[in-house]
Amino acid sequence: MSADQPLVLGLETSCDETGVGIVRGEELLVDAIASSVDEHARFGGVVPEVASRAHLEAMIPTIERATRQAGVRLDDLDAIAVTSGPGLAGTLMVGVAAAKSLAVALGKPLYGVNHLASHVAVDIVEHGPLPEPTLAMLVSGGHSSLLLVPDVTHDVRSLGSTIDDAAGEAFDKVARVLGLPFPGGPHIDRVAREGDRVAIDFPRGLTAGRDMDRHRFDFSFSGLKTAVSRWVQAREASGEPVPVADVAASFQEAVTDVLTRKAVLACREHGVEHLQIGGGVAANSRLRAMAQERCDAAGITLRVPRPGLCTDNGAMVAALGAQMVLKGRAPSDLSLPADSSMPVTLVQS
Ligand code: KG4
Ligand code: ZN
Repeated sequence: MSADQPLVLGLETSCDETGVGIVRGEELLVDAIASSVDEHARFGGVVPEVASRAHLEAMIPTIERATRQAGVRLDDLDAIAVTSGPGLAGTLMVGVAAAKSLAVALGKPLYGVNHLASHVAVDIVEHGPLPEPTLAMLVSGGHSSLLLVPDVTHDVRSLGSTIDDAAGEAFDKVARVLGLPFPGGPHIDRVAREGDRVAIDFPRGLTAGRDMDRHRFDFSFSGLKTAVSRWVQAREASGEPVPVADVAASFQEAVTDVLTRKAVLACREHGVEHLQIGGGVAANSRLRAMAQERCDAAGITLRVPRPGLCTDNGAMVAALGAQMVLKGRAPSDLSLPADSSMPVTLVQS
Protein backbone atom coordinates (compact mmCIF):
# COMPACT_ATOMS: atom_id res chain seq x y z
CA MET A 1 0.00 0.00 0.00
CA SER A 2 1.51 3.29 -1.03
CA ALA A 3 2.30 6.24 1.21
CA ASP A 4 -0.34 8.41 -0.49
CA GLN A 5 -3.08 6.43 1.23
CA PRO A 6 -4.72 8.17 4.23
CA LEU A 7 -3.03 7.51 7.57
CA VAL A 8 -5.74 7.31 10.23
CA LEU A 9 -5.60 6.81 13.99
CA GLY A 10 -8.64 5.18 15.61
CA LEU A 11 -9.63 5.31 19.28
CA GLU A 12 -12.06 2.84 20.84
CA THR A 13 -13.36 3.19 24.41
CA SER A 14 -16.99 2.01 24.24
CA CYS A 15 -16.55 -0.65 26.92
CA ASP A 16 -13.54 -2.05 28.77
CA GLU A 17 -10.83 -2.06 26.09
CA THR A 18 -8.75 1.03 25.36
CA GLY A 19 -8.01 0.43 21.69
CA VAL A 20 -5.65 2.48 19.55
CA GLY A 21 -5.26 1.39 15.94
CA ILE A 22 -3.44 2.94 13.01
CA VAL A 23 -4.41 2.14 9.44
CA ARG A 24 -2.92 3.36 6.17
CA GLY A 25 -5.67 3.09 3.55
CA GLU A 26 -6.69 -0.56 3.83
CA GLU A 27 -3.53 -1.73 5.58
CA LEU A 28 -3.36 -2.25 9.33
CA LEU A 29 -0.13 -0.85 10.79
CA VAL A 30 -0.78 -1.41 14.48
CA ASP A 31 -3.52 -2.50 16.86
CA ALA A 32 -2.61 -1.57 20.45
CA ILE A 33 -4.94 -2.57 23.28
CA ALA A 34 -5.04 -2.02 27.03
CA SER A 35 -7.84 -3.94 28.74
CA SER A 36 -9.36 -3.42 32.17
CA VAL A 37 -11.17 -6.78 31.99
CA ASP A 38 -9.28 -8.20 34.98
CA GLU A 39 -10.55 -5.35 37.16
CA HIS A 40 -14.16 -6.29 36.34
CA ALA A 41 -13.88 -10.07 36.56
CA ARG A 42 -14.67 -10.26 40.28
CA PHE A 43 -17.91 -8.29 39.71
CA GLY A 44 -19.04 -10.64 36.91
CA GLY A 45 -19.57 -7.73 34.51
CA VAL A 46 -18.05 -4.43 33.42
CA VAL A 47 -18.26 -1.67 36.07
CA PRO A 48 -18.60 1.60 34.10
CA GLU A 49 -16.77 3.90 36.57
CA VAL A 50 -13.86 1.48 36.86
CA ALA A 51 -13.67 1.19 33.07
CA SER A 52 -13.75 5.00 32.57
CA ARG A 53 -10.87 5.53 35.00
CA ALA A 54 -8.88 2.75 33.35
CA HIS A 55 -9.35 4.41 29.93
CA LEU A 56 -8.07 7.71 31.33
CA GLU A 57 -4.96 6.03 32.68
CA ALA A 58 -4.32 3.91 29.58
CA MET A 59 -5.09 6.42 26.81
CA ILE A 60 -1.80 8.32 26.47
CA PRO A 61 0.53 5.33 27.05
CA THR A 62 -1.47 3.29 24.50
CA ILE A 63 -1.34 6.06 21.89
CA GLU A 64 2.42 6.35 22.48
CA ARG A 65 2.88 2.60 22.15
CA ALA A 66 0.84 2.50 18.93
CA THR A 67 2.70 5.33 17.19
CA ARG A 68 6.07 3.92 18.29
CA GLN A 69 5.23 0.42 16.99
CA ALA A 70 3.86 1.75 13.71
CA GLY A 71 6.85 4.07 13.28
CA VAL A 72 4.63 7.11 12.64
CA ARG A 73 4.49 10.56 14.24
CA LEU A 74 1.18 12.12 15.26
CA ASP A 75 1.97 14.93 12.82
CA ASP A 76 1.94 12.41 9.94
CA LEU A 77 -1.73 11.49 10.54
CA ASP A 78 -4.36 12.51 8.00
CA ALA A 79 -7.35 12.05 10.32
CA ILE A 80 -8.46 10.96 13.79
CA ALA A 81 -11.40 8.56 14.16
CA VAL A 82 -13.15 7.70 17.40
CA THR A 83 -16.06 5.55 18.54
CA SER A 84 -18.81 8.05 19.35
CA GLY A 85 -21.39 5.37 20.24
CA PRO A 86 -23.08 3.15 21.15
CA GLY A 87 -21.52 2.05 24.42
CA LEU A 88 -21.09 3.14 28.03
CA ALA A 89 -21.62 6.90 28.30
CA GLY A 90 -18.67 7.58 30.62
CA THR A 91 -16.15 5.43 28.76
CA LEU A 92 -17.18 6.85 25.37
CA MET A 93 -16.61 10.36 26.70
CA VAL A 94 -12.98 9.57 27.51
CA GLY A 95 -12.29 8.48 23.93
CA VAL A 96 -14.24 11.33 22.36
CA ALA A 97 -12.46 13.92 24.54
CA ALA A 98 -9.07 12.42 23.69
CA ALA A 99 -9.87 12.38 19.97
CA LYS A 100 -11.09 15.99 20.00
CA SER A 101 -7.93 17.09 21.83
CA LEU A 102 -5.73 15.36 19.26
CA ALA A 103 -7.74 16.77 16.34
CA VAL A 104 -7.52 20.33 17.68
CA ALA A 105 -3.88 20.13 18.73
CA LEU A 106 -2.77 18.60 15.42
CA GLY A 107 -5.22 20.47 13.18
CA LYS A 108 -6.55 17.21 11.71
CA PRO A 109 -10.11 16.22 10.70
CA LEU A 110 -12.13 14.23 13.23
CA TYR A 111 -14.55 11.39 12.44
CA GLY A 112 -16.95 10.19 15.16
CA VAL A 113 -18.06 6.72 14.03
CA ASN A 114 -20.44 3.98 15.06
CA HIS A 115 -18.94 1.09 17.03
CA LEU A 116 -21.12 -1.45 15.20
CA ALA A 117 -20.24 -0.23 11.72
CA SER A 118 -16.58 -0.41 12.81
CA HIS A 119 -17.04 -4.11 13.67
CA VAL A 120 -18.08 -4.55 10.02
CA ALA A 121 -15.39 -2.30 8.50
CA VAL A 122 -12.49 -3.99 10.32
CA ASP A 123 -12.61 -6.89 7.90
CA ILE A 124 -11.38 -4.57 5.14
CA VAL A 125 -7.88 -4.56 6.68
CA GLU A 126 -7.99 -8.37 6.81
CA HIS A 127 -9.75 -9.44 3.60
CA GLY A 128 -9.77 -6.32 1.41
CA PRO A 129 -12.61 -4.11 0.15
CA LEU A 130 -16.08 -4.99 1.39
CA PRO A 131 -18.41 -6.27 -1.35
CA GLU A 132 -21.37 -3.92 -1.78
CA PRO A 133 -23.85 -4.92 -0.58
CA THR A 134 -22.69 -7.18 2.23
CA LEU A 135 -24.93 -8.89 4.74
CA ALA A 136 -23.36 -8.38 8.17
CA MET A 137 -24.15 -10.26 11.34
CA LEU A 138 -22.93 -8.47 14.45
CA VAL A 139 -22.75 -10.54 17.58
CA SER A 140 -21.19 -8.94 20.62
CA GLY A 141 -21.71 -8.50 24.35
CA GLY A 142 -24.17 -5.67 23.81
CA HIS A 143 -25.65 -6.31 20.36
CA SER A 144 -26.90 -9.00 18.00
CA SER A 145 -28.00 -7.65 14.65
CA LEU A 146 -28.46 -8.63 11.05
CA LEU A 147 -27.57 -5.72 8.80
CA LEU A 148 -27.81 -5.06 5.11
CA VAL A 149 -24.77 -2.94 4.25
CA PRO A 150 -24.81 -1.29 0.82
CA ASP A 151 -22.00 1.09 1.94
CA VAL A 152 -20.35 0.84 5.35
CA THR A 153 -19.47 4.56 5.35
CA HIS A 154 -23.06 5.78 5.13
CA ASP A 155 -25.72 3.19 4.37
CA VAL A 156 -26.31 0.49 7.00
CA ARG A 157 -29.83 -0.98 7.26
CA SER A 158 -31.16 -3.07 10.10
CA LEU A 159 -32.99 -6.28 9.16
CA GLY A 160 -33.38 -7.50 12.73
CA SER A 161 -31.80 -7.63 16.16
CA THR A 162 -32.17 -9.29 19.52
CA ILE A 163 -35.42 -8.63 21.34
CA ASP A 164 -33.84 -9.41 24.73
CA ASP A 165 -30.27 -10.55 25.52
CA ALA A 166 -27.36 -10.10 23.13
CA ALA A 167 -25.59 -13.29 22.03
CA GLY A 168 -22.47 -12.45 24.04
CA GLU A 169 -24.56 -11.64 27.08
CA ALA A 170 -26.11 -15.12 26.86
CA PHE A 171 -22.60 -16.65 26.72
CA ASP A 172 -21.55 -14.60 29.75
CA LYS A 173 -24.66 -15.50 31.78
CA VAL A 174 -24.53 -19.20 30.96
CA ALA A 175 -20.82 -19.25 31.83
CA ARG A 176 -21.73 -17.86 35.23
CA VAL A 177 -24.32 -20.60 35.78
CA LEU A 178 -21.61 -23.14 34.91
CA GLY A 179 -19.09 -21.55 37.29
CA LEU A 180 -16.80 -20.31 34.50
CA PRO A 181 -14.98 -16.93 34.71
CA PHE A 182 -16.08 -13.61 33.12
CA PRO A 183 -16.21 -12.89 30.24
CA GLY A 184 -17.66 -16.32 29.62
CA GLY A 185 -17.63 -16.63 25.81
CA PRO A 186 -14.03 -17.79 25.40
CA HIS A 187 -14.39 -20.22 28.35
CA ILE A 188 -17.56 -21.80 26.96
CA ASP A 189 -15.82 -22.07 23.58
CA ARG A 190 -12.87 -23.89 25.22
CA VAL A 191 -14.88 -26.18 27.53
CA ALA A 192 -17.38 -27.07 24.75
CA ARG A 193 -14.60 -28.71 22.71
CA GLU A 194 -14.70 -31.66 25.14
CA GLY A 195 -18.51 -31.82 25.18
CA ASP A 196 -21.30 -33.44 23.20
CA ARG A 197 -23.17 -30.85 21.09
CA VAL A 198 -26.33 -32.95 20.89
CA ALA A 199 -26.38 -34.07 24.53
CA ILE A 200 -29.18 -31.64 25.44
CA ASP A 201 -31.76 -30.24 23.05
CA PHE A 202 -31.95 -26.60 24.16
CA PRO A 203 -34.60 -24.29 22.59
CA ARG A 204 -33.95 -22.29 19.39
CA GLY A 205 -35.77 -18.98 20.03
CA LEU A 206 -37.85 -17.26 17.30
CA THR A 207 -37.22 -19.95 14.67
CA ALA A 208 -40.66 -21.49 14.16
CA GLY A 209 -44.29 -20.75 13.38
CA ARG A 210 -45.69 -17.31 14.11
CA ASP A 211 -42.52 -16.24 15.93
CA MET A 212 -40.65 -16.72 12.67
CA ASP A 213 -43.28 -14.73 10.76
CA ARG A 214 -43.19 -11.84 13.19
CA HIS A 215 -39.49 -11.91 14.02
CA ARG A 216 -37.94 -13.31 10.86
CA PHE A 217 -34.50 -11.75 11.39
CA ASP A 218 -34.72 -11.03 15.12
CA PHE A 219 -33.10 -13.08 17.86
CA SER A 220 -34.04 -14.02 21.41
CA PHE A 221 -31.60 -15.66 23.79
CA SER A 222 -33.23 -15.07 27.14
CA GLY A 223 -35.41 -18.22 26.96
CA LEU A 224 -32.34 -20.28 26.10
CA LYS A 225 -30.44 -18.85 29.06
CA THR A 226 -33.36 -19.70 31.38
CA ALA A 227 -33.60 -23.21 29.93
CA VAL A 228 -29.90 -23.79 30.64
CA SER A 229 -30.27 -22.48 34.24
CA ARG A 230 -33.29 -24.72 34.87
CA TRP A 231 -31.53 -27.76 33.43
CA VAL A 232 -28.47 -27.17 35.62
CA GLN A 233 -30.59 -26.54 38.74
CA ALA A 234 -32.57 -29.75 38.17
CA ARG A 235 -29.35 -31.68 37.76
CA GLU A 236 -27.88 -30.20 40.96
CA ALA A 237 -31.11 -30.96 42.85
CA SER A 238 -30.88 -34.59 41.76
CA GLY A 239 -27.41 -34.82 43.33
CA GLU A 240 -25.78 -35.83 40.06
CA PRO A 241 -22.71 -33.93 38.78
CA VAL A 242 -23.37 -31.26 36.12
CA PRO A 243 -21.76 -32.30 32.80
CA VAL A 244 -20.30 -28.82 32.21
CA ALA A 245 -18.74 -29.61 28.82
CA ASP A 246 -21.98 -31.13 27.47
CA VAL A 247 -24.09 -28.19 28.69
CA ALA A 248 -21.60 -25.69 27.23
CA ALA A 249 -21.46 -27.53 23.88
CA SER A 250 -25.26 -27.94 23.64
CA PHE A 251 -25.85 -24.28 24.56
CA GLN A 252 -23.24 -23.11 22.05
CA GLU A 253 -24.86 -25.32 19.40
CA ALA A 254 -28.28 -23.74 19.99
CA VAL A 255 -26.88 -20.18 19.69
CA THR A 256 -24.82 -20.87 16.59
CA ASP A 257 -27.64 -22.84 14.94
CA VAL A 258 -30.05 -19.88 15.25
CA LEU A 259 -27.48 -17.25 14.27
CA THR A 260 -26.23 -19.03 11.17
CA ARG A 261 -29.69 -20.18 10.06
CA LYS A 262 -31.07 -16.63 10.12
CA ALA A 263 -27.95 -15.09 8.57
CA VAL A 264 -28.04 -17.48 5.60
CA LEU A 265 -31.80 -16.96 5.20
CA ALA A 266 -31.30 -13.18 5.19
CA CYS A 267 -28.63 -13.50 2.48
CA ARG A 268 -30.93 -15.67 0.37
CA GLU A 269 -34.01 -13.50 0.76
CA HIS A 270 -32.11 -10.28 0.06
CA GLY A 271 -30.12 -11.78 -2.80
CA VAL A 272 -26.77 -11.04 -1.13
CA GLU A 273 -23.84 -13.36 -1.81
CA HIS A 274 -21.46 -12.16 0.91
CA LEU A 275 -21.86 -12.66 4.65
CA GLN A 276 -19.59 -10.96 7.12
CA ILE A 277 -19.64 -11.82 10.81
CA GLY A 278 -18.22 -9.40 13.37
CA GLY A 279 -18.22 -8.64 17.09
CA GLY A 280 -16.78 -10.56 20.04
CA VAL A 281 -18.91 -13.70 19.55
CA ALA A 282 -17.56 -13.99 16.00
CA ALA A 283 -14.39 -15.24 17.71
CA ASN A 284 -16.33 -18.41 18.63
CA SER A 285 -14.85 -21.47 16.96
CA ARG A 286 -18.13 -23.35 16.56
CA LEU A 287 -19.89 -20.30 15.08
CA ARG A 288 -17.07 -19.87 12.57
CA ALA A 289 -17.16 -23.55 11.56
CA MET A 290 -20.96 -23.80 11.29
CA ALA A 291 -21.20 -20.52 9.37
CA GLN A 292 -18.57 -21.78 6.92
CA GLU A 293 -20.44 -25.08 6.38
CA ARG A 294 -23.80 -23.42 5.83
CA CYS A 295 -22.42 -20.66 3.61
CA ASP A 296 -20.59 -23.23 1.47
CA ALA A 297 -23.82 -25.18 1.07
CA ALA A 298 -25.74 -22.03 0.09
CA GLY A 299 -23.08 -20.64 -2.29
CA ILE A 300 -22.41 -17.65 -0.02
CA THR A 301 -18.91 -16.26 0.50
CA LEU A 302 -18.18 -15.94 4.22
CA ARG A 303 -15.80 -13.37 5.71
CA VAL A 304 -14.86 -13.37 9.37
CA PRO A 305 -11.89 -11.38 10.68
CA ARG A 306 -9.29 -13.18 12.80
CA PRO A 307 -10.50 -13.58 16.42
CA GLY A 308 -8.27 -10.73 17.73
CA LEU A 309 -10.03 -8.27 15.41
CA CYS A 310 -13.53 -9.54 16.32
CA THR A 311 -13.37 -8.33 19.92
CA ASP A 312 -13.25 -4.58 20.56
CA ASN A 313 -10.13 -2.83 19.27
CA GLY A 314 -8.87 0.44 17.83
CA ALA A 315 -8.01 -1.00 14.41
CA MET A 316 -11.70 -1.29 13.57
CA VAL A 317 -12.27 2.41 14.24
CA ALA A 318 -9.20 3.38 12.21
CA ALA A 319 -10.37 1.05 9.41
CA LEU A 320 -13.77 2.75 9.21
CA GLY A 321 -12.17 6.21 9.55
CA ALA A 322 -9.88 5.45 6.61
CA GLN A 323 -12.89 4.38 4.52
CA MET A 324 -14.58 7.69 5.37
CA VAL A 325 -11.53 9.58 4.11
CA LEU A 326 -11.16 7.39 1.00
CA LYS A 327 -14.83 7.87 0.09
CA GLY A 328 -14.60 11.62 0.63
CA ARG A 329 -17.06 11.80 3.54
CA ALA A 330 -17.11 15.10 5.43
CA PRO A 331 -15.53 15.07 8.89
CA SER A 332 -17.65 15.33 12.05
CA ASP A 333 -18.16 18.61 13.84
CA LEU A 334 -15.84 19.24 16.79
CA SER A 335 -18.92 19.48 18.99
CA LEU A 336 -19.78 15.82 18.33
CA PRO A 337 -21.30 14.10 21.35
CA ALA A 338 -20.65 10.70 22.90
CA ASP A 339 -23.95 8.98 22.08
CA SER A 340 -24.42 5.92 24.29
CA SER A 341 -27.55 4.79 22.42
CA MET A 342 -26.42 5.65 18.88
CA PRO A 343 -28.61 3.63 16.48
CA VAL A 344 -26.91 0.99 14.36
CA THR A 345 -28.11 2.73 11.18
CA LEU A 346 -26.25 5.97 11.98
CA VAL A 347 -22.67 5.40 10.80
CA GLN A 348 -21.25 8.80 11.71
CA SER A 349 -22.12 11.49 14.23
O1 KG4 B 1 -17.46 -7.03 20.64
P1 KG4 B 1 -17.04 -7.28 22.07
O2 KG4 B 1 -15.58 -7.43 22.36
O3 KG4 B 1 -17.59 -6.16 23.00
C1 KG4 B 1 -18.83 -5.57 22.80
O4 KG4 B 1 -18.92 -4.64 21.94
O5 KG4 B 1 -19.79 -6.07 23.43
O6 KG4 B 1 -17.83 -8.59 22.55
C2 KG4 B 1 -17.67 -9.12 23.84
C3 KG4 B 1 -18.48 -10.41 23.96
C4 KG4 B 1 -18.51 -10.99 25.37
O7 KG4 B 1 -19.85 -11.30 25.70
C5 KG4 B 1 -17.68 -12.28 25.23
O8 KG4 B 1 -18.08 -13.30 26.11
C6 KG4 B 1 -17.95 -12.65 23.79
O9 KG4 B 1 -17.93 -11.42 23.09
N1 KG4 B 1 -16.90 -13.53 23.26
C7 KG4 B 1 -17.15 -14.80 22.85
C8 KG4 B 1 -15.90 -15.35 22.47
N2 KG4 B 1 -14.94 -14.39 22.63
C9 KG4 B 1 -15.58 -13.28 23.11
N3 KG4 B 1 -18.30 -15.50 22.81
C10 KG4 B 1 -18.23 -16.77 22.37
N4 KG4 B 1 -17.07 -17.38 22.00
C11 KG4 B 1 -15.89 -16.72 22.03
N5 KG4 B 1 -14.76 -17.33 21.65
ZN1 ZN C 1 -17.94 -4.45 20.19
